[in-house]
Amino acid sequence: MRLSTLGYLLSLLTLQSLARPLDDASPPSGNVTILPIEAFPKPSDLPRLAIYYQTTHTEATGGDPISILPLITEKGIALTHLYVCTFHVKYNNIIHLNDFPPNHPRFRTLWKEVEILRKSGIKVMGMVGGAAPGSYTTQTLDAPLGDPNFEKYYRQLRDVLRRYKLQGLDLNVEQPMSLPGIIRLVRRLRSDFGPKFIITQAPVGTALMEYEFPNLSGYSYRELEKAVGRDIAYYNAQFYNGFGSMYTTYDFDAVVDAGYDPRRIVAGQITTPENGGPFVPFEELKVTLDALVQKYGQIGGVMGWEYFNGLPGGLAEPWEWAQQITAILRSNFPARLVVTKEDAEGLDEAWEASVGGDASSLSGGGQGKKPDYWAMVNA
Ligand SMILES: *[C@@H]1O[C@H](CO)[C@@H](O)[C@H](O)[C@H]1NC(C)=O
Ligand SMILES: *[C@@H]1O[C@H](CO)[C@@H](O)[C@H](O)[C@H]1NC(C)=O
Repeated sequence: MRLSTLGYLLSLLTLQSLARPLDDASPPSGNVTILPIEAFPKPSDLPRLAIYYQTTHTEATGGDPISILPLITEKGIALTHLYVCTFHVKYNNIIHLNDFPPNHPRFRTLWKEVEILRKSGIKVMGMVGGAAPGSYTTQTLDAPLGDPNFEKYYRQLRDVLRRYKLQGLDLNVEQPMSLPGIIRLVRRLRSDFGPKFIITQAPVGTALMEYEFPNLSGYSYRELEKAVGRDIAYYNAQFYNGFGSMYTTYDFDAVVDAGYDPRRIVAGQITTPENGGPFVPFEELKVTLDALVQKYGQIGGVMGWEYFNGLPGGLAEPWEWAQQITAILRSNFPARLVVTKEDAEGLDEAWEASVGGDASSLSGGGQGKKPDYWAMVNA
């Protein structure tokens, strides 16, 4: 169902009827607050809250899927963008999502769950590149002009974006790439996917400051801005791992001083010290963010790397990181969720396919255990 149609239908229904399953035989949906999609921030609304979803399973091979539905079923999470990652373009190979092709059965649950996030108004994005080299080399997406390799590997990426209806793509270039190469890629995505497709980048914070150093991408982001700035919706600036921090407003200010609109800068944070450093405690982050909002009126938002182990909940309740950030950015935010009986059925089937029929994992709750999808049905 298209979002606009769904929103319209929801607006016709009362909260009372939404909170109750349509079929009395269904389990109750609990006390989740359901509001029309219009009540929630659109990704164009500020501040954004974006999170990367890279660790999708409890084990790198095998293991159980890690559910992302709590990001919409738990109260107080104003998520706007979810990044499914990491896609790797591989020379002499096919594109992978982490260690497997994206259509591997282990991702059945992931693709089903992101469908529900999308229906709930969250933009589901992809991310290609990151720390692992390969995607942006001169043999793949940075192939010289006229070299057929660009077309060959770009099409693998394009087809995955289409197949899974991803609404945008983060070009996370962490190895040197040429400026003409990244410009070609941005222009091609825009021409193939149209004006609504959301293109973002995730440079380290210092790459957006005056001297653009240190940087990991090689090219100048200011030069990129001159060429295709209108096509980059916003930057997820990595303010961690030595490329900046949010202990003070200093590094965000330095990016604004270099010429960037504060509304296009999303402050990237690690979600736990286990993912890098330094981890800025929530109370201190709040002081910094409040000061930035006071100074600039509005900022681009906050991004988290990554979902599965975010504090304070950790592995058992990783969505709590997004709750903490929402409390800073937009207090008193309700839960949102649109799940039909068909969704619950599909989710159950997807889970079983994802875990390869391992019956031992088909009970209980919490990370690595099958969520009670039927208890979420409300539409
Ligand atoms: C729902 O709310 C009512 C009243 O606040 C409370 O008594 C009840 O325990 C709640 N149920 C759940 C499942 O949280
Ligand atoms: C990016 O960093 C490299 C060294 O890693 C440096 O040579 C280059 O000048 C930097 N790019 C810009 C635009 O400053």
